[in-house]
Amino acid sequence: MKIKQVFENNKLWIEEKLKVDKDYFTNLSKGQEPEFLYIGCSDSRVTAEDIMGVQPGEVFVHRNIANLVNNVDLNVMSVINYAVRHLKVKHVVICGHYYCGGVKAAMQSSDLGILNPWLRNIRDVYRLHKDELNAISDEGARYNRLIELNVQEQCVNLIKTAAIQQAHKERGLLVHGWVFDVHSGKLIDLKIDFPKILENIMEIYKLE
Ligand code: CO
Repeated sequence: MKIKQVFENNKLWIEEKLKVDKDYFTNLSKGQEPEFLYIGCSDSRVTAEDIMGVQPGEVFVHRNIANLVNNVDLNVMSVINYAVRHLKVKHVVICGHYYCGGVKAAMQSSDLGILNPWLRNIRDVYRLHKDELNAISDEGARYNRLIELNVQEQCVNLIKTAAIQQAHKERGLLVHGWVFDVHSGKLIDLKIDFPKILENIMEIYKLE
């Protein structure tokens, strides 16, 4: 696509929005009150708004390679803090996806330079669930399961933060783990057991 086309698309998009609601952008500029924080993969095929069917203003979004919540990543930690404590979102979602290149790269034995420390977080997920994963003989099925377990572990990482623990206690904020299936377009709720995870990790990670 040519860059010029992008700006032409933008013009058309403005026209379409104004046709439906002439105050669309006036209202949009008043502020945001999203109910969701979405943390997903940077993969170009997995756009939060499209797969959720939502409009600008409805979801606060953070994306990185393989949808990781890393304790020392100032970027994701700032996003979580701002969305939970200031925007007061009601739901925080970790959304992984099948066919994730980041997860696939983490499963290979090769030096990927600067990506090594980032992808090591996924190797840590593998190590935590080694017995379950090694028992899956089909490589594709094992890869899919690692993608799901990575989502689950990133939910655990979320629940380790003070912001999430406090918001859950004070106003019932919930954490969700989803997987987007690129092959079918389906969004799958992994139905992670939030209260159980919280109870399990509070013994060691309680901050509130
Ligand atoms: Co990905």
